[in-house]
Amino acid sequence: MKHVGPRLPRSNMPHVGTTIFTEMSALAASCGALNIAQGFPDLETPVALRAAVALAMERGHNQYAPMAGNRDLRAWLADTYHVGAGYDPDTEITVGAGASSVLFAAMTALLQPGDEVVVQDPGYDLYIPVAELNHAHVVRVPLLDSDGAMNAAGLASAVGPRTRLVVLNSPHNPTGQLTTPDMLDALADVLEGTDAWLLSDEVYGPMVHDGRDAPVPWKHPRLRNRTLVAGSFGKLFHCTGWKIGWIAAPAAVTAELRKVHQYDVFSTGAPIQAGLASYLRTPEAHVHLETVGAVYEAKRDRLLRGLEGTAFTWTPAQGGYFQVVGVRNYLKPGESDGDLARRWTRENGVATIPMGSFGNAWEPAVRLCFAKEDATLDRAISLLRAISPEGLASIGHANGPFHEPTHRPTHASPPTAPEPSALRVVALQEPLVWQAPASNRTHFEARIQAALAAEPAELVVLPEMFTTGFAMNPEAAEELDAEGHSMTSRWMLDVARRHNAAVAGSVAVTTPEGHAHNRMWFATPEGDLHAYDKRHLFTLAGEDRVYNAGTERVEVAWRGWRILLQICYDLRFPGFVRNHGPQPYDLALFVANWPEPRRDAWRTLLKARAIENQCFVVGVNRAGTDANGHRYTGDSLILDHAGMALADAGGDGESKALRATLVRDDLVAFRRKLPFLDDADRFGVR
Ligand SMILES: Cc1ncc(COP(=O)(O)O)c(C=O)c1O
Repeated sequence: MKHVGPRLPRSNMPHVGTTIFTEMSALAASCGALNIAQGFPDLETPVALRAAVALAMERGHNQYAPMAGNRDLRAWLADTYHVGAGYDPDTEITVGAGASSVLFAAMTALLQPGDEVVVQDPGYDLYIPVAELNHAHVVRVPLLDSDGAMNAAGLASAVGPRTRLVVLNSPHNPTGQLTTPDMLDALADVLEGTDAWLLSDEVYGPMVHDGRDAPVPWKHPRLRNRTLVAGSFGKLFHCTGWKIGWIAAPAAVTAELRKVHQYDVFSTGAPIQAGLASYLRTPEAHVHLETVGAVYEAKRDRLLRGLEGTAFTWTPAQGGYFQVVGVRNYLKPGESDGDLARRWTRENGVATIPMGSFGNAWEPAVRLCFAKEDATLDRAISLLRAISPEGLASIGHANGPFHEPTHRPTHASPPTAPEPSALRVVALQEPLVWQAPASNRTHFEARIQAALAAEPAELVVLPEMFTTGFAMNPEAAEELDAEGHSMTSRWMLDVARRHNAAVAGSVAVTTPEGHAHNRMWFATPEGDLHAYDKRHLFTLAGEDRVYNAGTERVEVAWRGWRILLQICYDLRFPGFVRNHGPQPYDLALFVANWPEPRRDAWRTLLKARAIENQCFVVGVNRAGTDANGHRYTGDSLILDHAGMALADAGGDGESKALRATLVRDDLVAFRRKLPFLDDADRFGVR
């Protein structure tokens, strides 16, 4: 019996996709690369804290904590952590599921449609989507001024009559910059008499380096009453997975944000809160908080000492546990820092976060997380040192003990926009030898070799049933082993690895349970094999009598692209192909044995699918004549998101290698300009 789910409504967050942090961590895991990308420490959570939490569990703190948070924990926050600010633990402090949940509650409580939210650019990735979810308008201010300090004047001048919220983050993620006293004074001046609030994200609070002073708005006499300050125990005690954070704010706004918190999180981690509350009163906890900044400063220094003499450029982080390093000297021609970060993860075994993902106003650079044990840091250093720079021209002046600042504000020097992220595709339209897998594999092997030697590509697409032709007898199907592999899947993975290019195409297979499928594989150089079983079987030719229909739509997330897998007759069923987010796919692959009499339908429908789904389309048809006398004219096509042909094999039925470079940034800009996908109907599949 088939179960049909309800239709998705229009997305409330149509522009939100997988974060770069998730992507790079997944890529690091799949390549076995060292992950200094995502911002989590690998330092040990203090033993005494772990013991206190375990004890709290033993002592029965296992039911709901109070909605506002454990009372002792709130009292510690009021009288010790935020000492001097006079917060009332009962009415002004709220504990939530990490800083994220209370930031969300605060923004949702404060924002009305049309309000303006001023944010620093680049910045932590939560603020903008939450502002947009609340239908607020985001005003981005370049983070730094021409002296490389936080851009106080820019921030102050962005405040206007509709400003409801200004978001600050210090120490700053990703740059490690700190607010300055001047900046807070300038904000106090401009906010005077307005109804704008200041949301101060201070999750890296005590991690301030080089003996600096980091001024905070909740201690500023003219800002205290309009400030909400968020913190995170996960960051302070190396336990990000516990997700316990807090927000301190004046009573009136606390009452409002608790209304959101009450129906979102309500209450969180009772034994962890109780354990924290008892541990935090110990001398050991006091010492930990006093020294955590120095611990990270030493790690920053270890990292930067390790990189001396290389072609990286940097300004040492002033706080927090991230260091941005400039990578201009390491870019290959046409590469963005995103391309470079992915290449390093795959080829050099080290994963970082490209700064291009934080915004455009930035030199090519990557973010390194130095919240790591020294052994991990040393490994990261030696992996980074082993990478050879590409252009040596500018290295000389970048390598002294004092380093050129990597980043500049947009108005001091023109920003360098990241290069577009491109995917080079080769589509191989070939005649097939009837039911002869070995000879078809050998033939394709030679064609792939020749095509990629002529010009490299990241993706090679082969036709439907490329080892047999459109064979309607189950004996033609390859038997899969218990791991779901056959000779051809292993061959595809091997070809992908050797050429560092993904390989896609469909093959007739039989499972160990005896079910036959027309199965499309997408084999990656990283060793992943994605499978899609053709859903729409071609009943006219009796395909449904031989093969079992697939039930799932399959989208592959690979190297920053989302790729939909489709086979031949699927092309006629637009509901199944429909691109209805929340993360729209970028590219649809259609592999086919589409015969000559209906070639016009093939060409028209490919174009329609590209236009209506605002995606790139690669349609690869076989060429030649099969054993049943059906002729195939080819007509393979590569189309852009407006349905324009980037490559067209034409209908002469010859063997051809089609090529195109697909630029994702163009696609994103096109969809932003014409956001038609947001208006699409949501079709369920039955
Ligand atoms: C600036 C900033 N704010 C908030 C958070 C979220 O903190 P939590 O894990 O406590 O939700 C992070 C986490 O990386 C962060 O970097």
